[in-house]
This record gives sequence, structure tokens and C-alpha cells, in this order.
Amino acid sequence: MCGIIGFTGYLDAKEVLLEGLAALEYRGYDSAGIACCVKEENPIKIIKSVGKVSELRNIVPASLDSGCGIGHTRWATHGGVTVPNAHPHHAGRVTLIHNGIIENYHELAGELAKTGRTPVSQTDTEIAAMLIDSLYEGDACDAIKKASERLDGAYAFCILFADQPDVIYCIRKGSPLVICNTEEGSVVASDMVALLRYSKEYFVLPESQIAKLTKNAVTVTDLDGEPVMPQMLSVNWDMSAAQKNGYKHYMLKEIHEQPEAVLRTVTPRIKKQGELLIPNFSEDGIPDELFLSADRVIIAACGTAMHAGLVGRILMERLLRIPVAVEVASEFRYEDPIINEHTLVITVSQSGETADTLAAVRLSREKGAKTLSIVNVKGSSIARESDYVLYTHAGPEIAVASTKAYTAQLAAFYLIAFRFAYAKGTLSAQDCSAYMKSLSDIPKAIEDTLLSKDITKELSKRLTPSHDLFFIGRGLDYALSCEASIKLKEISYIHSEAYAAGELKHGTLSLVTTGVPVVALATQPDVFAKMISNVKEVCARGAFVILITTPQNAPLVDRSVADVLISLPETESEFTPFTAAVILQLIAYYTSSYRGLDVDQPRNLAKSVTVE
Ligand code: AGP
Repeated sequence: MCGIIGFTGYLDAKEVLLEGLAALEYRGYDSAGIACCVKEENPIKIIKSVGKVSELRNIVPASLDSGCGIGHTRWATHGGVTVPNAHPHHAGRVTLIHNGIIENYHELAGELAKTGRTPVSQTDTEIAAMLIDSLYEGDACDAIKKASERLDGAYAFCILFADQPDVIYCIRKGSPLVICNTEEGSVVASDMVALLRYSKEYFVLPESQIAKLTKNAVTVTDLDGEPVMPQMLSVNWDMSAAQKNGYKHYMLKEIHEQPEAVLRTVTPRIKKQGELLIPNFSEDGIPDELFLSADRVIIAACGTAMHAGLVGRILMERLLRIPVAVEVASEFRYEDPIINEHTLVITVSQSGETADTLAAVRLSREKGAKTLSIVNVKGSSIARESDYVLYTHAGPEIAVASTKAYTAQLAAFYLIAFRFAYAKGTLSAQDCSAYMKSLSDIPKAIEDTLLSKDITKELSKRLTPSHDLFFIGRGLDYALSCEASIKLKEISYIHSEAYAAGELKHGTLSLVTTGVPVVALATQPDVFAKMISNVKEVCARGAFVILITTPQNAPLVDRSVADVLISLPETESEFTPFTAAVILQLIAYYTSSYRGLDVDQPRNLAKSVTVE
């Protein structure tokens, strides 16, 4: 949940750190700080502030001359948002930054107190610094190794030792660290977005291994001191992919990148067989056997990624005719789930670092299930620990509110459903090809949907003063309602709920009174009439009704029951999740924007929940 950057080399370290923190700020923005090696009596200069990186930049002296430092932007876990709790933390000869949670820090603090060491902050991180300092006798790797044997929980540390200037030591367990070395120096960060300006070649520091960064080289050793040669990776992103490029917010840019995100995710998996378009995962190394041997599927994920699973479940059950369940990963991991070698567990994660989803992968493998992950970040923890990976190619997603990653995840589920129904024989080659043709038309359908953003702007002005708002739908439309609700809540702070439309009469209808906005999704022909009945129910209670439907159904709508009618571009009814999602994202975006809120970095949240 925090952003980490470290640099040692031939550039101005404070600039490298501040720019890196700005790029990583979406991972947490409660407070920020840097520590730099300086040629002064106290060889480590620490500067930190509450608030965003821009606040920190204002207090970093231009005269700070250093070629080595570490920087951190915090999402508060232990201890309030204060300067003493901001990272970096210092204890004796050790200065460090941390992403993760030390679960046994109370116990360790008690032990350290007996040696006269008492913290000045409320954080678990400072206890880790004190522990490493208490174990340090000149051999950094030895002290780090001994500390790692005492620390329970998740961590990614970058550590400076006062008597080792211009050297950074790193170790991780559960939280991410990526590293590169160039002629300008060595860089370590929480994710690639902060390394892009220096290199597209990098490696992920393997868990429980120690990286030593100097100006000219990076060496990695295991905890026994044996050298390790990490696997090099590369990204095809460029700098602009991780910048706003003229959009007011990253979220608006990423909403508009969805046609490309879906196109890049689908195209490499379409293979022509004569005139037929058949999905193919040969380049992903995903065998048909993975599904043919499964007698049921569990989809485990969090938040928006889980909502993509809700759509995937409907598609896969409809086409594969095997049971598919969707589990919230933070529940799944503690349920002692009934899974075995005939269960396929599909995890979904944009970042590939969500702690609960990673735990779901580990638990599933322990119980003998095969695991397939749908991930957007190459080489991320969930990708590396899954048996198989289907990468989405949405490019870096910076806004906390997930948009292009979600529609790319939908595309991945459509590909999975079509490929494995075709392989299983429950979908003919002709029908599969027809579906694939429709899927390949989706980028254009999203483009067309984006053309109607003015209606969402006007509608959002009407929704801006709302306190409560409901999304209702059935089937695929209920799955989309769930996603619409989280999108609106997380960036506009308006309370909203998603309801299976048929459930209204079982309780929620009591909350629908005059003027309460209800967004009704009615794109599925088999339940359209039922949805119109539900719309009439809320209309009769005075609701302000926004009806989202298809060109086929729009003419059938009695306009007395819909205050606003939005007709999606023409697609097969199975594909309306893509176009409806764009409308719902735009409504959330403009509502948050009109409320004058920080759309990209909403309060209390962060982009990647790498702690439990
Ligand atoms: C979505 O808009 C949220 N930011 C959040 O629900 C997110 O989808 C969830 O934390 C899962 O993240 P992941 O895809 O990186 O695992």
C-alpha cells in the first residue's frame, strides 16, 4: 500500500527520489519522506512531511547534495498520519523505508525495550529499524538475515547503514520490489512505473533474498550469502503510458484507453482457422487440459477485479456448463475452502500484488488445485506464483479507480469462456467464431460509447448533490451494478448500493423515496420485461430513474418511467458489460469531478492493497 524508491548513482538523488515518489504516489499519499547520504557529521539526512509528495518537495533544500537515498510515500497502517510516523525511520546506524505490515512488532518492541530501545513513532516500521540496528555488527547482510528470521508479516525494505555510504540494501517478503541498474546508477522501487524513466529492463527481487545496490552494480544473495542471478524482465511501456498526456486525470485517460486495452488483450489470442476466428492460448502456455480436467471453477479476487469475475462466472457457466463460484479473496483464504486437484482457481488482479488474492493463490496450490491468474503487471507476485497466467495488456493503470484493467479483465474472461467451451465441445466452431467476431468489434463499440460522454456529464451534475444512490440489474446487469457502485463510492464518496433488481421488494425498496437516484441496467433481453417492472416500482416511489438499455429495447421503454434514458451502442447482448461499464465509469468520474474531489487519489484508499 506504500510507494518505495531508492537510488544510488551519478544523478541528483533528491530529484530521482522526488520524481519517483510522484510516480508512485497512487500507492499511498498520507505522508512522504526521503533519506539521503550526505558528507556531513550525521551521514544520513532525513526529510519528511505529512500530505502529498508536493508538500515534501517544498521542504527539501535545493542545497541537498547527494548521490544516494531512499524515499517513501505512505498509506497509513500502524499509527496516524503524522510526521513522526512518516517514513523513513531511523534507529542507531540504520535508516529504512517499508511497505507491508510487521505482525509481531508489539512482541519485538517489548524485547527491544529491555535493551533500552524505545520508539518515537507508533509504527511497526521503526521497530524493524531498531531490530536490524540491534543485530548490526558491521555485516549488513548478516543483520538483515537475522532480522528476517524474527519478523512476521509482509515487508519490502530499503535500508541505509550510516557506515556504508552510497549503498542500499533491500529485502522483501510478500511486498513487491523491482530493481534496475544503468550507467546512471541503480534504482529500486515498488513497481515499474518509477523505473520506466531509467530502464525498461528490470528484475523482481526474489523473496527472502538480499539485494545490495551500489552506484555501478546490483548484487543479489540468498540468506546464506550465496550469489543469485535474478531473472531479467522487460516492459514495452513507454514513459507516456504512465503520464496524463493532456487528460485532467489519469482516470479519464485510462477510461479512454479502454479500446486499446481490450484490443491488445484480445488480438494476440485470436487465431484464424480458415475463415473462423478461434481463441488460442498457445502463446500464453495455457493448455485446454486445464479446463477439461476441472469439474468446477472458483474465481477469487478483490474489489473491481472480483466484479470482473462476476461477469466471467455467468459467461463460463452458460458456455462451459460446469459450476463456477466467485469468492471475495479476503473471505476465501480463511474459509478452509473445499477444493482439490479437480478444482480450477482463477485469481484476478490488476496489480498482481493484492495480499488477499496472493494468499488465495497460495492456499489453492497447497490444496492441490490448479491456478490460473488474470494479471496486468508482468512478473508480479500473483503471476509468478500461479501455475498459469493470462496477462491483460492494459498498460500501467495509475488511477486508484480501476477502469481499463476491468474491461481488459472482462476480455480475458470472454476469451477463456469461448476457448474452453470450444475445446470442451459445448460451443461449435461457428458459434465460437461468431462470438470472437463480436469480441473483436468491442474496441469500436467502446469508442462509440465514449462519444456519448456528454449525456453522462449532464447526468453527473444532477447526481452530484446525492447522498444515496442505487444500482439495480439482473444477470450480467447485476454484475455491472456491483462494479458501478464501487466506482461511484470510491471516488465521489456518495453512498451507493448495488442490488439484484428482484431483491428490491425484499427490503431496499423502503429506502427509495422521492428524488432518490436509481440507475437501472436493462440490457438483457430475457429479463428486460422484469426489469421494466422493477423500474416502475421505484418510479412509483418517486425515484429519479436513469435507465441504461440497448437500441433494441430503448423504443419499448415507456418514457414516463425513466427520467434519463441512455441507449448503448449496438452489440450482442452478451457484450453489453463492456459498453455499460464505460457509461458507469464516466458517471462516477464526472460526479467525483463536479464534487471537486481528488478523482485519481481518493481519500483513505491506495492503488494496490499489498497488506491484509
Ligand atoms: C477498484 O477501482 C479499486 N481500486 C479496488 O477495488 C481494486 O480493484 C482492488 O483493490 C483489487 O486490486 P487488484 O486488481 O490490483 O488486485
